[in-house]
Amino acid sequence: MWACLAELCRASAVNYSYWVLLLLVFLIASSSACSNGNCQVLDACVAASDCGPGLYCGNCPSLGKNQPFCTRGRAIVPTSIIGGLPFNKYTWLVTHNSFSIVDAPPLPGVQRLTFYNQEDTVTNQLKNGVRGLMLDMYDFENDIWLCHSFRGQCFNFTAFQPAINTLREVEAFLSENPMEIVTIIIEDYVHTPKGLTTLFTNAGLNKYWFPVSKMPKKGEDWPTVAEMVQNNYRLLVFTSVAAKEAEEGVAYQWKYMVENESGDPGVVRGSCPNRKESKPLNSKSSSLFLENYFPTYPVQSDACKEHSTPLAEMVVTCYKAAGNKMPNFLAVNFYMRSDGGGVFDALDRMNGQTLCGCSTIAACQAGAPYGSCKNISAPTRSPTTNTAGSFSGSVQFTNSATTVHATSYLIISTLYISLLFFLLGKLQLQVAR
Ligand SMILES: *[C@@H]1O[C@H](CO)[C@@H](O)[C@H](O)[C@H]1NC(C)=O
Ligand SMILES: *[C@@H]1O[C@H](CO)[C@@H](O)[C@H](O)[C@H]1NC(C)=O
Ligand SMILES: *[C@@H]1O[C@H](CO)[C@@H](O)[C@H](O)[C@H]1NC(C)=O
Repeated sequence: MWACLAELCRASAVNYSYWVLLLLVFLIASSSACSNGNCQVLDACVAASDCGPGLYCGNCPSLGKNQPFCTRGRAIVPTSIIGGLPFNKYTWLVTHNSFSIVDAPPLPGVQRLTFYNQEDTVTNQLKNGVRGLMLDMYDFENDIWLCHSFRGQCFNFTAFQPAINTLREVEAFLSENPMEIVTIIIEDYVHTPKGLTTLFTNAGLNKYWFPVSKMPKKGEDWPTVAEMVQNNYRLLVFTSVAAKEAEEGVAYQWKYMVENESGDPGVVRGSCPNRKESKPLNSKSSSLFLENYFPTYPVQSDACKEHSTPLAEMVVTCYKAAGNKMPNFLAVNFYMRSDGGGVFDALDRMNGQTLCGCSTIAACQAGAPYGSCKNISAPTRSPTTNTAGSFSGSVQFTNSATTVHATSYLIISTLYISLLFFLLGKLQLQVAR
């Protein structure tokens, strides 16, 4: 009689632990001091709705922080606090491979095999204060596609979507937010003649185009953000192909920008080497400086760790390497991941220092002399909500899970890496034959 109930017993034991778990969750939830959108950065949370504006409920297992806490997910757009300065005085948030999004559907019938770098849509990135997009463009399927590929060729298993879809998202954002400026940096594998020109025209982006002829060629200041808004020069586009500047009027990136080494060679503590395409970081002939801050292989669950203390240190290192020049663009993977303030706090410090001589932009006061700062009680714990800006974002991921499950992601990413190497090996074999 009892033996036949073993099945049932096991089931009820499962049930029992389920109820204990539920009770625990309930106890934790009700014992935390805050809820209903009152929680600040680092306060314990159960759901995103516990946290204040611009925050989500995340965690950081790679730093041993498994319990969820409110985490910043939105940037303060610097122009919303200090306006009117030359474009190259600001530091902007850039997403590396903005299109390589975790939940993006693969091509029908194809298993995608590549790395992911972001977790929300480009529209959402822009709403959260991202102002620069790094896009890899390839000729593919008689069109131009965003693709995360190798050797300049896009495959159906590395492809994301036609570039025009993403550019239309940018167009919608620029038209809804008439004060905002967006920069697009293209890793350009497009060989179709006038391919980029046609693409941007079809996306309706010509009307925002910052003309190459008006770009400072010798390291002078850029026009002010106010002038750029007035003239509707609100889209800066850079290509990695030099010839396209003359052929299509698309600015050649390395003429206007210096950039640190990308990938693992660039993540060595205490050094900030320039990328080989780039002039030395302290070169005075380019007035824009892009700091790449991401490892070669993006691992979702490690990003929160990378975006903590090491980022703060790297910003200082690069600032010095560039001859005390603050980066204008900070490019990262998984921009929302951190152990609290992450990339957003770093940006606030950078902008605070350059724009008004304060420890964070939240302490800057419009119209006040340089160095006169507001008293901020605990700058990293109280994110200021952006009221002055014309945009308002929402903090959300494309996937419903906002907390990271370290082990599963590690396994998945290891799998991806081995598969990619396997494929690369196969390709090489074929080429060798
Ligand atoms: C993907 O591309 C390969 C060749 O690169 C081809 O053999 C395969 O049929 C394609 N798959 C689909 C679903 O289009
Ligand atoms: C340079 O770029 C890489 C990203 O590609 C980044 O990981 C590294 O930390 C950067 N170096 C510095 C000093 O910021
Ligand atoms: C900021 O706070 C300090 C003391 O905490 C005070 O001495 C100072 O006057 C304050 N400054 C402003 C601008 O309120």
